Amino acid sequence: MDAKKELVNQLKEVIEKNEELNDIIENLCDGVYITDGSGKTLRVNKTYERMSGLKKEDLVGKNMEELVKEGVFSQSASLQVLKLKAPATVMYTVNTGKRLLAKGVPVFDSFGKIKMIVNNVWDLTEIYSLENETIGPKASSLQQEVDFIFHSPAMDKVVELALKASKVTSNVLILGESGVGKDVIANLIHKASGVKGTFIKVNCAAIPETLLESELFGYEYGSFTGAKKDGKAGLFQMANNGTIFLDEIAELPTHLQAKLLRVIQDKEVIPIGATKSIAIESRVIAATNKNIETAIDTGLFREDLYYRLNVVSIKIPPLRNRVEDIQPLARYFMDLFNKKYSLNKRLSKGALEALERSQWRGNVRELENTIERLAVVVDGNVIAAEDIAIIQNKPLLADKGKGSLKEQLMELEVKLLRESIVVNKTTRRAAKALGIDQSTLVRKLQKYGMKMMD
Ligand SMILES: Nc1ncnc2c1ncn2[C@@H]1O[C@H](COP(=O)(O)OP(=O)(O)OP(=O)(O)O)[C@@H](O)[C@H]1O
Ligand SMILES: [Mg+2]
Repeated sequence: MDAKKELVNQLKEVIEKNEELNDIIENLCDGVYITDGSGKTLRVNKTYERMSGLKKEDLVGKNMEELVKEGVFSQSASLQVLKLKAPATVMYTVNTGKRLLAKGVPVFDSFGKIKMIVNNVWDLTEIYSLENETIGPKASSLQQEVDFIFHSPAMDKVVELALKASKVTSNVLILGESGVGKDVIANLIHKASGVKGTFIKVNCAAIPETLLESELFGYEYGSFTGAKKDGKAGLFQMANNGTIFLDEIAELPTHLQAKLLRVIQDKEVIPIGATKSIAIESRVIAATNKNIETAIDTGLFREDLYYRLNVVSIKIPPLRNRVEDIQPLARYFMDLFNKKYSLNKRLSKGALEALERSQWRGNVRELENTIERLAVVVDGNVIAAEDIAIIQNKPLLADKGKGSLKEQLMELEVKLLRESIVVNKTTRRAAKALGIDQSTLVRKLQKYGMKMMD
């Protein structure tokens, strides 16, 4: 009898604990999305329902693959976790228009099989105020929405730090080579902060020095010749209560560095020609791909400004130091271009491995470009390691404005010849496609020292 009572008590305790756990999960500030080892949705919490705008009933029991195919989600962290059997962070869009960030972690059983994937989800949906919509300059505010994917422990740390930084208003300095994803992280910080104000991006290297000061700080009526009649609000003012992203900060001229320092210290701007200051409550995120310490040593960057900006410093490692990200990114970009160009191409295992072995001096941007070129140029639906070798040996078209017209035309010719050979396989077919004689094509190939494939 006592044993029975004991059992009933234990059961009661278990039920209570279970209810308690349920309450905790339901009331977490983060969204929770749990799938089983095949990607089937087991449960979502209330917070997730609110963030995503979706109902529990429409998700539970459904497989992630199905949900992505149906377009409910643009991406899925769980599917990434299943593919690589490792944690993954994914930013995606829900068909309700919401933007979310999910971090998926696999839970393994004693045989090393994934039994469950637990996703923590944050809301990145931007809350625009009407006011901001009308004053924000279209060109410099907000880049288009992109999904992103990270698998590497190094990027996991970066995302974690970015999420931490988003919760406070401290200034952030983002460092890293060109194309590593500095813009992506700056955007993430702004969105995860949930602030109402706009995200304004200013490329300090792209705006002429003579205009930069008035663009940043604005000007009063009649303050200089050529100024608009009634003055103009500066970008700092437009980003008020939001985020101002100063990209390529190392290129900021020294006299503006002094002015920026004052804006950050005093939290106010004085437009050119104005006598009164305007209070500013915007977070500054700065980024550079230059070695800023060298710039300080050579007197090109103010040390005091550096310390002001560098309250939180986020260093994004180059792609070659986070090889784990290469395959998922390559697959992701392939899906993207398949959709964009209505293709159905796939990277072979050999191709993925060849991509992993590459140097990626241009980082994620170069990988993205390479996948796009592969998608467009390679014939057939399976992309092989050789295709990658061919594409990578091909000189990139010169930057616009570099080299004489003749040099650029030659480069363009080389590019077209290579692509045509890759696509058409034989000189006969390539010549036909290009509308030239086979002998002309062969002569051109010899001129440029290009190898034949037939
Ligand atoms: N993890 C990722 N997932 C998906 N796309 C990514 C990821 N990281 C970067 N990208 C893409 O790669 C490209 C380069 O990223 P981004 O513009 O953020 O680099 P950057 O560090 O700001 O480069 P730069 O120094 O040249 O300004 C963009 O098209 C971006 O969308
Ligand atoms: Mg950038």
